[in-house]
Amino acid sequence: MNWFWRKWENRKPTVSQYPTLQTERLVLRMFDLCDTVDVFAYAQNPLVGPMAGWAPHKSIEESRHVVQHFIQNGDVWAIVEKRSGRVIGSVGLHVDTKRAVENARMIGYALGEHHWGQGYATEAAKAVLRFAFEELQCPVVSAYHFPKNAQSKRVIKKLGMTQEGTLRMASVSPDGTVLDEVCYSITRAEYLAHSDTPPKA
Ligand SMILES: CC(C)(COP(=O)(O)OP(=O)(O)OC[C@H]1O[C@@H](n2cnc3c(N)ncnc32)[C@H](O)[C@@H]1OP(=O)(O)O)[C@@H](O)C(=O)NCCC(=O)NCCS
Repeated sequence: MNWFWRKWENRKPTVSQYPTLQTERLVLRMFDLCDTVDVFAYAQNPLVGPMAGWAPHKSIEESRHVVQHFIQNGDVWAIVEKRSGRVIGSVGLHVDTKRAVENARMIGYALGEHHWGQGYATEAAKAVLRFAFEELQCPVVSAYHFPKNAQSKRVIKKLGMTQEGTLRMASVSPDGTVLDEVCYSITRAEYLAHSDTPPKA
């Protein structure tokens, strides 16, 4: 297989839908159209989407399309707070199109502003990282944040990822602003070296 087809193959997700994951305070499950109202509640906030590269949702209809997209792709979990039963955000494990190695994944997340600062993003992302390495056997998982996103930087550090550098002019935000991306990754070997769970055969 030549380099072009290898890169193309890597872009095809190898699973159709991720399973439900549990943490102490959260349930991570696939989205349902009934989640649209909860998604609109947090996604219309101009402090949330632009930090992750997407525009605030202008209508509930827009949120419905996004939820539909999540359902079709099957690579984004709804973050459900056990205490309230509400969807408070999302966490995704996507094919990392910046890397050619097979099964490289990229983690991304967003939470409603009311739920920031309680360790929820870190709790959700840790469960996703465990799934990526222990179930999907990914060789590497990456994360990227815009330079001014100090909260996300902190989450990524708490995941044990290594900063690789800055990809300049990597992204164009919905308003046309060109942004750099700070790049991080953790390899399977690094993860297993710091994990208490024995690797699966
Ligand atoms: C990034 C985001 C998901 C973090 O969610 P969260 O649940 O608040 O994250 P956590 O509570 O697990 O950790 C946040 C950390 O950032 C720190 N933090 C918060 N505000 C900060 C700031 N302005 N500067 C530096 N650190 C900050 C917190 O103290 C915490 O670190 P600590 O545990 O060492 O105290 C949330 O802020 C968000 O949804 N932002 C908008 C969307 C987004 O940026 N997505 C990521 C795109 S890369």
